[in-house]
Amino acid sequence: MNKVGVIGAGQMGAGIAQVTAQAGIAVLLCDVDLALAEKAKAKIAKGLARLVEKDKITAAAAEAAVALIQPVADYAPMAEADLIIEAATEREEIKARIFAAAGKVLAPHAILASNTSSIPITRMAATTTDPARFVGVHFFNPVPVMKLVEIIPGLATAPATVEAVRAFAAGPLGKEIVLSQDEPGFIVNRILMPMLNEACFVLGNGTASVADIDKGIRLGLNHPMGPLELADFIGLDTCLEITRVLLNSTGDSKYRPAPLLAKYVEAGWLGRKTGRGFYDYSGEVPVPTR
Ligand code: CAA
Repeated sequence: MNKVGVIGAGQMGAGIAQVTAQAGIAVLLCDVDLALAEKAKAKIAKGLARLVEKDKITAAAAEAAVALIQPVADYAPMAEADLIIEAATEREEIKARIFAAAGKVLAPHAILASNTSSIPITRMAATTTDPARFVGVHFFNPVPVMKLVEIIPGLATAPATVEAVRAFAAGPLGKEIVLSQDEPGFIVNRILMPMLNEACFVLGNGTASVADIDKGIRLGLNHPMGPLELADFIGLDTCLEITRVLLNSTGDSKYRPAPLLAKYVEAGWLGRKTGRGFYDYSGEVPVPTR
């Protein structure tokens, strides 16, 4: 891979751009507005500067990575990319529009990948110009820290496509790979989301407080974060959306969203990104709200 396009300069897109650039690969970081892509690049530069301060990487390495990231606001430069990774909002119609536009510039040898956390790959592939060169490549947040990448071939994905993204993620990016069939939630979210949803039921039932639910799982299961702080970290809207995908695509009522989770989303309490979820993030340290 010489050049990778990343579409969507949010938390996931920026994370993918960062690890790709740190691997010495040129990145086109694209968002609808150039200012958003530039802001994401500045944030990456700030994150890398912190790693330099902590002596994790050299100043030269940080500078080289930042120089490899080119913010863009249109798809034309993506014609030079060997791989385009879509990491936009988790809404199928938005992704379909991106695939249609990216498909127009995608080089004949290049691969189009989606970082979707729950939308079926086979269904999205059907909206692309070449489903054989379309694949799910699911990173985890924070991308620079989390070792895992899930690779999800759709029904029509060519084995060579899977091999190419595996070589990219396991090689220069140094990630560990798991392969999942195109089933709802793939591997990790299929198991994680019911746990986070259950924590919302436990809270809603009044079984325990936010602090005790999180402490219970942190110390009782050795998870780095409790389920409610993790749900806040991911975004409660995202958790609800993925839980609904699990429910709708399996028809199994065990995936019904906890009423409290839905209520928080209705209130606009989406977690860290809005300053309030199960914790209040307005102060120095997060404070449990229930
Ligand atoms: N970029 C680079 N490095 C980062 C970082 C970032 N954005 N955030 C944290 N780090 C690094 C820190 O520099 C630190 O490194 P050192 O230990 O080498 O100094 C290390 O990560 C730990 O960070 P902190 O000390 O600041 O904080 P912490 O120990 O509380 O760890 C955490 C933070 C890594 C987020 C940890 O709490 C954790 O692993 N939580 C679980 C995260 C998780 O489950 N993510 C998956 C979410 S699900 C998902 O993403 C998929 C989906 O589809 C929804």
